[in-house]
Amino acid sequence: MYEIISKTEVVPNIYELIIKAPEIAEKAKPGQFVILMIDEAGERLPFTLSDWDAKKGAITIYFLEVGLSTMTLARLDKKNISAVIGPLGKPVSAEKFGTIVLGGGCYGIGGIYPIVKALKEAGNTVITIIEARSSYLLYNKEKLRKYSDRFIVTTGDGTKGEKGKVHDVVKIMIKRKEKINRAYFIGCTFMMMNCFNETKNHDITTFVALSPIMVDGTGMCGCCRCLVDGETKFACVDGPIFEAKDIDWDILFKRNAAYSQQEAMIYQFHSCESREV
Ligand SMILES: Cc1cc2nc3c(=O)[nH]c(=O)nc-3n(C[C@H](O)[C@H](O)[C@H](O)COP(=O)(O)OP(=O)(O)OC[C@H]3O[C@@H](n4cnc5c(N)ncnc54)[C@H](O)[C@@H]3O)c2cc1C
Ligand code: FES
Repeated sequence: MYEIISKTEVVPNIYELIIKAPEIAEKAKPGQFVILMIDEAGERLPFTLSDWDAKKGAITIYFLEVGLSTMTLARLDKKNISAVIGPLGKPVSAEKFGTIVLGGGCYGIGGIYPIVKALKEAGNTVITIIEARSSYLLYNKEKLRKYSDRFIVTTGDGTKGEKGKVHDVVKIMIKRKEKINRAYFIGCTFMMMNCFNETKNHDITTFVALSPIMVDGTGMCGCCRCLVDGETKFACVDGPIFEAKDIDWDILFKRNAAYSQQEAMIYQFHSCESREV
C-alpha cells in the first residue's frame, strides 16, 4: 500500500497528488513516469513524474479527470492506493544545449517542471511557455518561473499573458529570428503536434512526450506501440519522450482514439451513477 500524503484540486479538473514512494523519489529523473493502481483490480494508470523529494520520500503527479479511473482517483477518500510502479521510461539528457524552449499545456504544466529545472541547472537559457483556456486554469506558475530565464503565460481567452497558445508564441519567436537550439513540449497530442509544426522547418531539435494507451509499462504487452522513424517503438521503454520529427502522428492519433467511444460511455454511466447516490 502507498500512502497518499495529499490530494488537491489545483484548478478545476486538475489534481495534484503527493504520494509516499521513497524508492521512486530516490531514483526519479526528468521525463520519467509512474504507473498507479488505485486498488488490486484497478486499471494501471500512467502519470508523468512532476516532482519528487528524496529526503521526504515523496513524489508529485498532476492528473486531469478524463475518464472512469481518473474520476475514481479524484473522488477517492481513502488514504492509500494499491501500487505505484516506477520510475519508468527513459529520462531526458540534461546537458548544456544553449537556448531551450519548453512548453506545457494541461497536465504538461506540471509534467514539464522537472525538465525545466534540470536544463536550467545544466546551464541552459530556459524559456518556459504554458497555456490554458483561461487564467483560472493556470497552475504551477511560481515553480516554473523560478527556473526560467523567461516565463511566458498564454490563455485562449486572453485573460492572462499572451492571447493564444504555446505554438503561437513559438511562431512569433521564430518570426523574430530568436535563436532556439532545442524544444520540449508536454501536453495533449494535438498541442504537441501544433508546436512541432512551428519548429519543424527551423533547425530546432524538438522533443515531445507521448501518452499512448499503456498497460504493463515494461515493454511486454505491446499496447503503447508507436511508429518512430519507421520502426515500431514502445513508448513505455523506448520513450515516452521522442524526437517529434520521427513520429508518425496519424497512427498515434488513430491508436489513441481506438477506445474513445467505450471510454466516453463508461465515464458518462459512472458519473451519472455517482451523482444519483
Ligand atoms: C507516459 C504517460 C504519461 C502520462 N502522464 C499523465 C499525467 O501526468 N497526467 C495526466 O492527467 N495524464 C497523463 N497521462 C494520461 C493518463 O494516463 C490517462 O489520462 C488516464 O490513464 C486515463 O484514464 P481514465 O480511465 O480516467 O480515462 P479513460 O476512459 O481510460 O480514457 C480517457 C482518455 O485517456 C486516454 N487513456 C486511457 N487509458 C490510458 C492509458 N492507460 N495510458 C494512456 N492514456 C490512456 C484515452 O486514450 C482517452 O483519450 C499519461 C499517459 C502516459 C502514457
Ligand atoms: S505498456 Fe505494454 S509495452 Fe508499453
